[in-house]
Amino acid sequence: MKPERIIIFDTTLRDGEQCPGASMNLREKLEVARQLARLGVDVIEAGFPVISKGDFDAVHTIAREIKGPVICGLARCVPADIDAAGAALKPAGKRARIHVFLATSKIHREFKLRKAQSEILRLAVEGVRRAKTYTDDVEFSPEDASRTEPDFLVQVCKAVVAAGATTVNIPDTVGWAVPDQFGALIKHLHDAVPDFASGKAVISVHCHNDLGLAVANSLAAVRAGARQVECTINGIGERAGNAALEEIVMALKTRRDFFGNFACGINTREIVRTSRLVARMSGLPVQRNKAIVGENAFAHSAGIHQDGVLKKRETYEIMDPEEVGWGQSELPLTKHSGRAAVAARLRQLGFRMSEADVNAIFARFKEIGDKKKFVYDDDLTALVEDLLTEVHETWALDYLSVTSGSNTVPTATVRLRKLGTGKQKLEVVQDAAIGDGPVDATLKAIDRLTQTQGRLLDYSLRAVSAGKDALGEVTVKVEFDHGLVITGKGTSTDIIEASARAYLNAVNRYLANGKKKNNKCSAARR
Ligand code: KIV
Ligand code: ZN
Repeated sequence: MKPERIIIFDTTLRDGEQCPGASMNLREKLEVARQLARLGVDVIEAGFPVISKGDFDAVHTIAREIKGPVICGLARCVPADIDAAGAALKPAGKRARIHVFLATSKIHREFKLRKAQSEILRLAVEGVRRAKTYTDDVEFSPEDASRTEPDFLVQVCKAVVAAGATTVNIPDTVGWAVPDQFGALIKHLHDAVPDFASGKAVISVHCHNDLGLAVANSLAAVRAGARQVECTINGIGERAGNAALEEIVMALKTRRDFFGNFACGINTREIVRTSRLVARMSGLPVQRNKAIVGENAFAHSAGIHQDGVLKKRETYEIMDPEEVGWGQSELPLTKHSGRAAVAARLRQLGFRMSEADVNAIFARFKEIGDKKKFVYDDDLTALVEDLLTEVHETWALDYLSVTSGSNTVPTATVRLRKLGTGKQKLEVVQDAAIGDGPVDATLKAIDRLTQTQGRLLDYSLRAVSAGKDALGEVTVKVEFDHGLVITGKGTSTDIIEASARAYLNAVNRYLANGKKKNNKCSAARR
């Protein structure tokens, strides 16, 4: 029997990006979108165009550049929002979707919107009708649907479908639902709205993970009639995050015996690569024991398990790690590899780079190749990410020397180059500082030189690849201006240098567009 299709709607670049510190610039978003297209998602929700110029440009660029998936932009039921989404999505032509939303629950109606049910119905219908003037593909979300009175929710669904919505998304906005109850709600909607059963409109679900139930709720909804699932890579998103794409896809595939004959367009072998790219680009590392994509997901440490897996993999493994993209690395490059080999590997990894970008990466590849024996795909990807992150570089690291030890006062001497927009050198400044440790001393010197005052909220270091000579990747979260949190990333074989690069990256992001991001966050929270 032909499997039933589940539409995978990825909102990594919209809801995923909405969490504090997960700021991606335009080039990073574009690379993530390219990888999502390779992964085979059906819909990419690329942003919330009215919220900032950055979001508008991201949606517009992704709509222009990415072929394959439908490209979606979010809008409130407000004319200016819908018009901005329509304009941003124009290059996608027939592949454009506008996603309008309006809260429907009693608590949101009474305390946030101060509107009666009748007015909510009117605004929802008007929003859908306006979106329809831009595209046939319109999705409507009754925000906080899981806490909305079911009868009113039925009325809303009927009204928006009659107005032209082709998808109605049922969000569990605050992660309040539990699987049996959420499944029952979806079944109720499926049975009560004839246009769902007839296939005129698709039921979608969008679950948040506040109780750790986002994936379970989404799967219960699929069993009850939902045919689109909204999710993010690695489950990133507001607060505790959204339903994780990789978990939903692999649960449906691995437990077909239970869920039924469903299929989606995901190329599961691209899952691990996508997860790593998103982790690096968003600055939100994946926990080791995360299902499917965590480092430990397929690592068996107990002897009895190892023995079993060697005898027959299925004794302790319910999925083949290769099926989700583990263990696919090519032979590593070395310092003897030429520019053509590096360019070819970058293409193979899916990066589309200009000649100038390849030259910049090749220069850093050579530096690293001199220090470590093998340059792995993950190392190369980290260099690409450094480059993409660099976009608005104002300050660049020119020189760093650190003294530290058990009986020495940690001291750092730092020299920075100030760069103009065309990357011409404007000035060179140098200073030294002492600190609690070498990283502290280095960051203090950078603060003085750049005349910024960042507060380090979070610092994490991970090895990009295996071996003692691995590249260290540092991710920092830095607070500027009372509450403005910016993520910075940097890599090097020297972890103090990686820390300096990561911190400078955050400073540069702050100097380039920190203020705008701050506005965006407060607007997005409404
Ligand atoms: O969680 C939510 O309700 C949302 C909507 C905009 C779909 O993200
Ligand atoms: Zn959401």
